[in-house]
This record gives sequence, structure tokens and C-alpha cells, in this order.
Amino acid sequence: MDKFIIHGGKNLRGTVNISGAKNASLALMPATLLASGKYELANTPVLRDVVTMSKLLQSMGVTVERAEHTLHINTFRVNKFEAPYEHVKKMRASIYVLGPLVARYGKAKVSLPGGCAWGPRPVNLHLEALKELGAKIELDRGYIIAKAKRLKAARIVFNISSVGATGNTLMAAVLAKGTTRIENAAMEPEITNLAEMLVSMGAKIDGIGTPTLEIEGVDALHPANISTIPDRIEAGTILVAGAMCHGKIRVENCEPSHLSALTARLEDAGMKLTIGSSFIELHAPKEILPVDVATAPYPGFPTDMQAQWIALMALAKGSSTVTDTIYFDRFKHVPELIRLGAKIELNENAAIVKGVKKLIGAKVMSTDLRASAALILAGLCAEGETEVLRVYHLDRGYEAIEKKLQKLGANIKRVAGEEF
Ligand code: UD1
Repeated sequence: MDKFIIHGGKNLRGTVNISGAKNASLALMPATLLASGKYELANTPVLRDVVTMSKLLQSMGVTVERAEHTLHINTFRVNKFEAPYEHVKKMRASIYVLGPLVARYGKAKVSLPGGCAWGPRPVNLHLEALKELGAKIELDRGYIIAKAKRLKAARIVFNISSVGATGNTLMAAVLAKGTTRIENAAMEPEITNLAEMLVSMGAKIDGIGTPTLEIEGVDALHPANISTIPDRIEAGTILVAGAMCHGKIRVENCEPSHLSALTARLEDAGMKLTIGSSFIELHAPKEILPVDVATAPYPGFPTDMQAQWIALMALAKGSSTVTDTIYFDRFKHVPELIRLGAKIELNENAAIVKGVKKLIGAKVMSTDLRASAALILAGLCAEGETEVLRVYHLDRGYEAIEKKLQKLGANIKRVAGEEF
């Protein structure tokens, strides 16, 4: 297991290129199961989660090869319709193979994802929607067994906005007989990217980017090539790094419209932003102003930026409240930030953050992807040395984060391959 050693206090300067979005890739890759043939997925980030999804697809007979940031996928020889526990336990997004498999091959066996570091994270919405589309679903010894001759269209009304359930249902409905309507669909850009890929494969989808999707099922789809959208969470994380480290930075190859909830709050916190068509420049003032945020489904403030926002608020001039309305228990970073000198109290799903003048380096432990990002950010501006242990969580979702931060002048290095 690798760790990061950070010597905090460097002001960040320079430009970083944003990679493709992890959460988009994890939806685009399983969509290739919907039609046999060859696909090119451009701008795919080089990440552990992408490797996990590649291995899962390979275990089903799919060929997946990477050339730089393009994935070449060939789904001619799909001969297994199973997502075993060994893959699903590493990555919950493995559940995304369920919809395509049952829609295209009429059967799927997918391990039930367990809980995760910050709570139960159920998949009931995925299963209920597939049932409404006519799939027979059974649970057997930790596995979801789904079967259907051909799925049939339905009106599906989600009571909670769910990215994964929307993606899975969409991938199932494109091959269902008749016109399916999904209400309260997730509007996240990663779902739009998926819907656009499905359309280029021959799917008929109306309402892309809105909470109501209408899908006229077709008998068959064909392969297509697609480019993955930029990772808004990576861009956001780097912008917050700049905000915390007196930065003058620019994130390139991003999609600023996907980041508007965050950029508005950064401006509230006193940051000077210049927003272009594919870049954002941030100039941090001397003082960070306290700003309350509450996470919400897109276009609201993303839960995947909650931990980083708490890290920023730990250095604000005053108190703020950061509430997570999506994941009530997603606060594993808080005790670790407190070890670095932050003053934070938890009250149910809200963190009350009292800004301090400075953080002080210490050893801290990564517990999940975004929590780890928050610890890195805190380490970058903490006085002295911070060690962030178990950074494999970070490698799941950030491509070469330390290299990007080094490019901005941060003193961060990876120590590889030892047991920590
Ligand atoms: C996706 C993202 C994750 C992000 C999350 C919320 C991927 C691979 N992951 O996760 O990074 O943090 O969206 O933006 O895209 N829920 C249920 N039943 C279900 C499904 C979800 O109750 O069957 C609840 C969840 O517990 C949560 C809320 O719905 O409270 C939203 O979760 P969801 O959008 O489904 O998250 P994921 O798709 O798992």
C-alpha cells in the first residue's frame, strides 16, 4: 500500500489538465454490453476503478485494451453473464452490468454490493425498476439473479434521485419493447454522457439532461465511439486545493457548466474566478470566507465535493455548516481532519466547522476516495509534514493526482510498495 508524504505550505501556481470522468467511464464501459462489436472510448481516465471494470468485462469474454487514454473494447464474445463478488466488493459501480446484461442477454447474476465506508448504500431502486420492466429478480446467496425474455416498457418514478439506478434503468430500457418513461431521473452530466452514447448506438431517448427521460425501445443497437466528459470532481478538488493554498491556478479541459454549484460557492468564499468555455482560473485571496453548503443531486452541490469543502472551511475566517443530504454518514474524514488541527463538530448529517488559522501536519488515514482527497488538501497547507496512509482509495478515482499537484508546485511524494 502506498502512502503520500506532503510538506505543506507551498503556494500553488500553474495549470492542470483535467482527466476524463471516472463516474462517466464506469457507465460507458458496461453500456458496450448492449451491442456486439468494437468500441472506442476516448478520454478514459487511467484509474483503478477503470481497471476493475475492465477486469469485470474481461471475465465475461469482452476484450478491453488501453492505448493512452482510449479504451478499445470488443464485445463479440460475451459468454458469461456474471459479476462475481470479487469485483463487486472492490467497486459498487459493477452493478452497472445488471441492466445491459438482462436487456441484451436475458440473464444476469450480479453480486449484491455490501455497505461501504460511509453507510449502507442500497440498490433497491435498481432492482425495483428492472422488475417494473418485466425482469424476474431473485436474491440467492448474496447474488442478484435477473431474468427476462424481453423487457417491456414501463413508467418508472424514482422516489429518490439516483445516478446508478437511472443509469441501469436507462441501459435496460433502450432494448425494452415499447416506450419507457423515467421520472425523477438523475440529471448528472455522467448520465447525460451515457445517454448520448446510447443515442449514438441507435437508442431513441428524449429529455436527455432533464428529470424525465422517454425511451422508445429498439430491437437492436450497434457499437459506437464516444468521448468521456471531463471529471468535474477532479477539477473541483484541484480548484479547492488552489483556494486553500493561496493559489493562482488554472484547470484546463474541464466543462465549467458542470461545476456551477461549486464555482458559485467558491466565489462566495472570496475566490476570484475567471471562467472560460473549457477552463477555470482561480486566484485565492488572503482570507477564506465561511460558506454553508448542503449537498444535493445535480445541479446542486455534489456530495463528492463535501469532504473537500469541509477541508476548505477548516481554514475559513469564521464558522460554517456543511450538510450532506445524500449520504448521511459520509463524514469519515472529519476525525482525520481534526487530527490535523481542524475544529469540527458533527451533528447528525451536518458538520459545523470553526475555521482555524492553520492546520498542523500529522499521520492520517484514508478511508474512502473523497475523504482521502480532503486529507491531501489539508496536508498541502498544513504546517510541517503530513503522511496520508492507504492512498489506494485515491488511486481509484484520481489519475496521478500527486503529479498534477507537483506541477502546481506542491511538495507531495508517493512512497510505494511498503506495508503501512
Ligand atoms: C453515484 C456516484 C458517486 C456519488 C453518488 C451521488 C458513480 C459510479 N458513483 O453513486 O460518486 O457520490 O452517485 O452523487 O457514479 N439510493 C437508494 N437506493 C438505491 C440507490 C440509491 O436508496 O437503489 C440512495 C443512496 O443511498 C443515496 C442516494 O440514493 O442516498 C443517491 O445515491 P446514487 O445516486 O444512487 O449513488 P450511486 O449511483 O451509487
